[in-house]
Amino acid sequence: MSFSSEWLALREPVDHAARSKKIARKLAEQLAGKNPARITDIGSGTGSTIRAMRPFLGDDVQWHLTDNDDALMDLARNEAGGSETAFTIADLSHSLDPLFSKPADVITTSAFLDLVSLDWLEQLVSQVASRKLPFYAALTYDGRAMCKPELKRDGEVISAFNRHQQTDKGFGPALGPAAADTAIRLFEQAGYQVTSARSDWEGTANHKEFQKMLLEGWAMAAIETEPVQEASFKTWFLERLRLIENGEATLMVGHKDFLAVPA
Ligand SMILES: C[S@@+](CC[C@H](N)C(=O)[O-])C[C@H]1O[C@@H](n2cnc3c(N)ncnc32)[C@H](O)[C@@H]1O
Repeated sequence: MSFSSEWLALREPVDHAARSKKIARKLAEQLAGKNPARITDIGSGTGSTIRAMRPFLGDDVQWHLTDNDDALMDLARNEAGGSETAFTIADLSHSLDPLFSKPADVITTSAFLDLVSLDWLEQLVSQVASRKLPFYAALTYDGRAMCKPELKRDGEVISAFNRHQQTDKGFGPALGPAAADTAIRLFEQAGYQVTSARSDWEGTANHKEFQKMLLEGWAMAAIETEPVQEASFKTWFLERLRLIENGEATLMVGHKDFLAVPA
């Protein structure tokens, strides 16, 4: 599955505001004394995790960014400039080896876990646990979504969108909204202590372009899931667009962050 740099740029300020400060600070405590801290990030896109974590970790970090999209990785490379950042372009659905090709003190990811299947997640947890590494996942979608003002069809569109979230995103049937809780359970079964917190998106009336692109994505996914509802879901989207344009629309989208630490 591919993600446009335009969409990643629009969501980044909303992501950064939503990211749980409590969990980010816990990661910083976990890495205290590692100079530099070595962090491998999964599905890095344009490097949003680096920018989000700078206020918590400072600059003494050796990042290893991984992604299968070379255009996004080029953007991340431009941003990283001369810093000590390593880049691995690899399709992680085939093998997890690229993740462990460089030494790391922690594995991180953001806005990624909901794309993967149970099988893939089990392999990831097993490989992370066998190395006794901490694992930090931010901004995993949890299935809660609410648009304001409410419209009659909101529930139907969100329900169809959530079912689409469970279709194959390149890793087999995706966990979608169940991903964060499943990952937490797997890490606890592997003997980890897990701390989690909500990291919900709060889209304000000022986030017009973000809201438009998000809801267009929901409408398209919902129509793919229920083609017979195409006309109804398109009408819903047009009504939502009007509310966004008028500065009347806000939304909340539920996410979860967690830090898993080997006991
Ligand atoms: C929603 S984006 C999140 C990007 C970034 N972590 C952020 O928070 O902005 C998901 C990322 O996962 C990457 N991705 C999707 N499938 C992948 C795969 N099979 N192997 C490696 N990366 C993948 C995408 O290219 C994209 O950059």
